[in-house]
Formats: sequence, structure tokens, C-alpha cells
Amino acid sequence: MLHRLLRGGCSPLLCIWVLLLPLVSLNQHGHRNHNVRDQSKLLLVSFDGFRWDYIDRVPTPNFRKLIDEGVMVEQVENAYITKTFPNHYSLVTGLYTETHGIVANEMYDPILNRSFSMETDSIYDSRWWEEAVPLWVTIQKAGGRSGAAMWPGSDVKIHGMFPNQYLRYNASMSFETRVEHIIKWFSAPKEEAVDFGVLYWEEPDESGHRLGPQSPQMDVVIFGIDQKLGFLIDELVKAGLYEKVNLIVTSDHGMAQLSPDNIIELDQYVSRDLYTWVDKSPVVGILPNQGKLEEVYGKLVDANPNMAVFKKESIPEHFHYQHNVRIMPIIIEAKEGWTVVQNRSSPFMLGNHGYDNTLRSMQPVFVARGPSFRRNYVKTSMHSVDLYPLMCQILYIRPLPNNGSLLNVIDLLSPDITPSTPSAPPRVTSYSYAPVVGSLLGVVMVLGFLVVYIRQVTLKQLPSLKHRRREMSQPLLQEDLHL
Ligand SMILES: *[C@@H]1O[C@H](CO)[C@@H](O)[C@H](O)[C@H]1NC(C)=O
Ligand SMILES: *[C@@H]1O[C@H](CO)[C@@H](O)[C@H](O)[C@H]1NC(C)=O
Ligand SMILES: *[C@@H]1O[C@H](CO)[C@@H](O)[C@H](O)[C@H]1NC(C)=O
Ligand SMILES: *[C@@H]1O[C@H](CO)[C@@H](O)[C@H](O)[C@H]1NC(C)=O
Repeated sequence: MLHRLLRGGCSPLLCIWVLLLPLVSLNQHGHRNHNVRDQSKLLLVSFDGFRWDYIDRVPTPNFRKLIDEGVMVEQVENAYITKTFPNHYSLVTGLYTETHGIVANEMYDPILNRSFSMETDSIYDSRWWEEAVPLWVTIQKAGGRSGAAMWPGSDVKIHGMFPNQYLRYNASMSFETRVEHIIKWFSAPKEEAVDFGVLYWEEPDESGHRLGPQSPQMDVVIFGIDQKLGFLIDELVKAGLYEKVNLIVTSDHGMAQLSPDNIIELDQYVSRDLYTWVDKSPVVGILPNQGKLEEVYGKLVDANPNMAVFKKESIPEHFHYQHNVRIMPIIIEAKEGWTVVQNRSSPFMLGNHGYDNTLRSMQPVFVARGPSFRRNYVKTSMHSVDLYPLMCQILYIRPLPNNGSLLNVIDLLSPDITPSTPSAPPRVTSYSYAPVVGSLLGVVMVLGFLVVYIRQVTLKQLPSLKHRRREMSQPLLQEDLHL
């Protein structure tokens, strides 16, 4: 294992330090250490549908400011399918969609015999969300506090909990009002202040669908988002939070340009009487009627060169989109820029997303800035599931099992943050080993002490030893290795 870490590119000492951090910072119940709370605040912001290259299209001074003062990742491979609900849940769980269970914006669960649609109150049924545990729940269970301004799932009771502070979804609430709430929650008195906040905004997704990403009118929309980011920064500064709160600005997916010439009409190939249409273009979930799987598949598989048709069991491995009953027996994936409909009376959009997550057009922006992050650092690539272990590291929370890797993204963090520093650490650009050596010495001393202590206990009270051993051998470190 250590081998893999070393090949991952961090120096041995740094690696060991990273692996020890969770030990140092968690008490025996996995709770957060109180004196780290102040410096490990985190606000995660999603501008829905903000494609990675939008920041280069028009002047975006506020994004630029964050990049200069923080980090940026050029290429973020998000989760399949590249839709809103699946990807927002991946960001806060570190799981592929097949594992967290929000596999689409529109779903059918044959076991629950229920449908889920982003457009209805079905999203408030907890059962859809409980195949995973979102970060806000984990933080609260560890004694921290969280606040959510309309992140998908954040107004649903999940494993018995809502965020400590949250807003019920209301598309008419302005960005500025959402920000006001976020600021209020972070600046509350110490015991009530949130450690982790999530903030969601519907644009530029809505405009991207309506206008198409290539429309020159999108320039204004993108500039407008940069202004919104500027508003958020100003409010953080005014509240004295800008230097304290780590700010991550990202998105769920990108946007591709469509054309009314590139339409696939399923009615031409297979009768509607043979199947139920579950999820929409561009990755359509098809539920064939009882006994009709082969017939429907046979009619679709070679029907149109601009779509790929998969039986569930042959969906390509790298999508990690197979092992869930909510993934339909047949899925149709349109080629980039193509739309699948039943017939042309279906509404048509000029922009869409949902396609293959390796397409550049589907990928989101990623910038971050704050006391835990390096400055003026550009990284080539990451997976969006890596964000979860990174956020857990910033918040000193033990991550639940997930599909990300902290070591893939640890270089985004400032090397000199330590959990025991009482105030904001000084900025240095080179790696400093002092805290590492300090931590190691501390750990060695504690271990030495334990060995002596246990020997004493062994001699004195044999019965209690078994219990103690069991505790000691809990694979705390091992768990943290499986990032
Ligand atoms: C599933 O629910 C529908 C109503 O929503 C009902 O008509 C149908 O019988 C149910 N199917 C099963 C297998 O329970
Ligand atoms: C949604 O937000 C708007 C604007 O803040 C407000 O006027 C409206 O009452 C809200 N709706 C609900 C149902 O809370
Ligand atoms: C398309 O399907 C709808 C039913 O959803 C039907 O009413 C309409 O006549 C169809 N249009 C064409 C052109 O086939
Ligand atoms: C993703 O992580 C979950 C939780 O650890 C695990 O059950 C699942 O097998 C992982 N998926 C892949 C493709 O590794």
C-alpha cells in the first residue's frame, strides 16, 4: 500500500504525515477536535452547468482572483451520467452514481415500485438517498455543524437528519438571499456556527439549455455568474470570513451544443407499447415490458449510428454505471450533440448534458481558495469523486468508504497546515517537514508509552486486556488508507 502512495508522487514523510493526520485530529469517537474547528471551515459552491472553459470565454475577474490566490484544476472528470442530481450527490459522497443510488434525474426503482423525478415531490422520499451518507450528515454525527442553501438532497431527511441549517428548495429565491443565509450561518456565535456550507445556483445551466453553449448570448450569462461570485467574495470579506473559510467553486457538469438536425426518433424503430421511457435524453433509460427485453434491444441496437444501445450488463466498465436496480435494463446513449426523443412533438433544447463523462464538453470548472489551499497552483486533472476525501481532510473528518483518492488531490492543499496549529499558519511555498517530524516524534512517544502501559496492565489485570486489544486493533489507519 505504501508503495502505491509513494508512486502517487508524494514524498515519504509527507505521505506518512497525511496518513497520520486523521489519527491526530480525531478523538476516540471519531469526533472533531475542538481547537481545529476555527480553521477548517469549508464552503462548497456549485454553479449548475458551469463548463470548465467558460472562464476563458469572457473576462471573469472573480474566478481569476480565486485562481491567483488559490488553486485550479483544468480537467475534472465527473460522474456518469453527467446530470445534475447524480453529480451533486457524487460531490458530497465521493461515490459513483451506481453506488450512491441517485443514478439519474428521473428514475424508477423496481423494488420500491416508485418513480423519482426532479420535477416532483418524489425527491423528498428519503429512501432514494439512503444508499449513501452525504458529508453534512457525517459532519454532524462527528459533532460538527453544517448549513445548506439548496444543494440537491440537502432539504431531504437522510438517515434521520437534515443539515443543521437549510433552505427548502425554492427556485425563486435569489442568489443574493442564499448568500445572506450562508454568511449568517458561518458567522453565528461559535457554538452555532457551521463548519461546512453548500451553496447551489441554477445558472448557467438554465441559459445553457435554452440558448445552447455556443450562443453569443451565453457570454453575458457567464459574465453574470462571475459577478455573482464577486458578490459572494465581497460578502465573505465584509463578514471577516474570507481568510477563514475555504471556498471551493465547482459545478456538476458542462454543456454541449445541440442542433434540431441531430434528432433520433425512437418511434421509428420500436413501438411505445413495448417499453416504458424512464430517463430523458441524452442517456435514455428504457424499461422493456415483461418478456420484451430481447425484442426491444434487437430493434434498437443497430437502428441509428448516432446512438449507442447497451444492455445493462454490457455498459462499459469505466462508467461505473451498472450495479444498481435503478439503472434500467437498456440504456441508450446519444452521441455528443444528438437528442433522443420518441417523436418530434417532444420539446427541444439547444443545449444539454448527460453524455459520456470523458467528453470535455461535459466537464465542470474547479477552483478553490482559502487557508487550507496552496496559492496560485494549477493542477492538470482529478476525478470529481476525489473532492470528497479532500473535503474530509480539510474538515478533519474521517471519510466514509468512497471511490475517490485523497492522494490524487493532496497537492492542492497547502503543505503546512497542521491540525494542532492554533491560528492560521504562515504561508510558505516550499514543503516544511517540521510539523511532520513533530507529529512523528509525538506518535512514536505515544506508542512507546502505550507499549509500556499495556505491559503493566497485562501483568496486573489480565481480563481487561482482551477488551483493550480489540480496541487497539481496530483498523483505524487501514480504513484511512482505502481512500
Ligand atoms: C406498482 O405501483 C402501481 C401504482 O403506482 C400499481 O398499479 C402496481 O400494481 C404496482 N406494482 C407492483 C408489482 O406492486
Ligand atoms: C420562494 O422565494 C421567494 C423569493 O424569496 C418568496 O417570495 C416565496 O415566498 C418563496 N416561496 C416559498 C414557498 O417559500
Ligand atoms: C407524437 O406523439 C404524441 C403522443 O405523445 C402524439 O399525440 C402525436 O400525434 C405524435 N406526433 C407525431 C408527429 O407522430
Ligand atoms: C466505490 O466505493 C464503494 C464504497 O467503498 C464500493 O462499495 C464500490 O465497490 C466502489 N466502486 C468501485 C467501482 O470501485
